[in-house]
Amino acid sequence: QDIPADRPKRVLLASPRGYCAGVDRAVIAVEKALERYGAPVYVRKQIVHNIHVVTELERLGAIFVDEVDQVPAGAHVVFSAHGVSPMVVAAASDRGLQAIDATCPLVTKVHREAVRFARDDYEILLIGHEGHEEVEGTAGEAPDHVTIVNSPEHADVVEVRDPSKVVWLSQTTLSVDETMETVRRLRERFPQLQDPPSDDICYATQNRQVAIKKVAKDADLVIVVGSANSSNSVRLVEVALEYGAKAAYRVDYADEVEQSWFDGVATVGVTSGASVPEVLVQQVLEDLALAGFREVEEVRTAEEDLLFSLPKELRHDPEGRR
Ligand code: F3S
Repeated sequence: QDIPADRPKRVLLASPRGYCAGVDRAVIAVEKALERYGAPVYVRKQIVHNIHVVTELERLGAIFVDEVDQVPAGAHVVFSAHGVSPMVVAAASDRGLQAIDATCPLVTKVHREAVRFARDDYEILLIGHEGHEEVEGTAGEAPDHVTIVNSPEHADVVEVRDPSKVVWLSQTTLSVDETMETVRRLRERFPQLQDPPSDDICYATQNRQVAIKKVAKDADLVIVVGSANSSNSVRLVEVALEYGAKAAYRVDYADEVEQSWFDGVATVGVTSGASVPEVLVQQVLEDLALAGFREVEEVRTAEEDLLFSLPKELRHDPEGRR
């Protein structure tokens, strides 16, 4: 399809995009552990949900395992950014493993909320995706008090023991709009539903969604760089479609972009999930330039400068940040 002459080809590049503070910290934690202890260093689950990051760390000597019983007794093991349940911590300690906890501090915050509300005997409605590592870790803090709510529709049917003592918490990487809809429906059924003390959906997830909403309304096509198991990346595709993009696709690598996607397209929106290194976005931009989309306009909706200190086992100076 031809593009009208008054619609020049261009790229709208969402910002913020890519690495968040929690991912940055987790990836550096594995690199530093390799430097300090030498290869191999074991990592329970994917350190962050990005295939490129995992492959690069494997090249440096990281070994990714599903559970701590696959780690040789006494070895170093890093817990991923998504967090672990107390059962995993106990299993690692029983095996005599040297654990390094790379759980994002914003996930740890939700764990603490779960522990506190469970102690006060609340039933916790944890909004999130069943089977996701973060949800397993948070639910594991208070298994007898947590019920997982998967979707707005699930909110219409979920049962609670005592409707006067319920609180909702959430996974950090959900769609803000869909979560608010789930909460609205829960509150319709349980008017005394209590809110968490502060937002559980993290700043990075929220900022990336706000940026892609602004891009999507002017985009014929949106390309989200991110892996299939990355919750926040998958949400970016959904949000882009909801907010006006005519089409939106997720790719791990630039070579997955298909030429047929460009039929009739003048404006391409580009963003990336919180676990995606910028180099992968730059490769997509290079290919877009070759396809005639040379003009790149950044659409910035927030500034980010958050930095988390490394897990304490890896700080050179225990008081220092890095
Ligand atoms: Fe943490 Fe949010 Fe990133 S919870 S790992 S800052 S996506």
